[in-house]
Amino acid sequence: MSETVPTAAAGRSPQEAEIVAALGDRPVVLIGMMGAGKSTVGRRLALRLGLPFLDADTEIESAAAMTIPEIFETHGEPHFRDGEARVISRLLDGGTKVLATGGGAFMREETRDRIREKAISMWLEAEADVILRRVKRRADRPLLKTPDPAGTIARLIAERYPLYREADITIASRDVPHEKIVDECVAALHDYLCAAPPQP
Ligand code: S3P
Repeated sequence: MSETVPTAAAGRSPQEAEIVAALGDRPVVLIGMMGAGKSTVGRRLALRLGLPFLDADTEIESAAAMTIPEIFETHGEPHFRDGEARVISRLLDGGTKVLATGGGAFMREETRDRIREKAISMWLEAEADVILRRVKRRADRPLLKTPDPAGTIARLIAERYPLYREADITIASRDVPHEKIVDECVAALHDYLCAAPPQP
């Protein structure tokens, strides 16, 4: 099981406790391109909030008992996308948590609608050069096994950013310490969920 069990609930700051209370049973769903830091930031954000962390890609791999490259190779991308939508739909229902999703998940309308209805979405927006530098460290992204990964990333950004922009919250992912990005996520969640309503 990939779930990280929270141990820090008792150590939440007042701001973190207010966020968790305002979330109720809604998950925080991280969206964004490969390499944007969804899993790394998500895991740390979950620890800060004392919530479970789940990674949709890992859940898809355990459900299929195959790695993502194996699923793409054996069954093709459409099959992967159907499984991804099913797994995310299940995870959105299992109570509050931080959920990292794969870069393509938010492109499916049905998944966007479910996230809008049941969760708070957070886009980790990263620039193409940051993404390219980070994805070069790993070879397990089937979509980037192309002769021109930089061109592929540029195309995916053009297709995806207009939809990612629909997220409730946007955070600029960049090369600063992870804890700084997590601090910004906590502050943005607090603003979004707990800001006092404007005075009449
Ligand atoms: C994909 C991103 C990957 C994984 C799959 C497809 C995409 O997840 O779901 O390789 O379409 O951008 P990460 O965003 O976690 O790398």
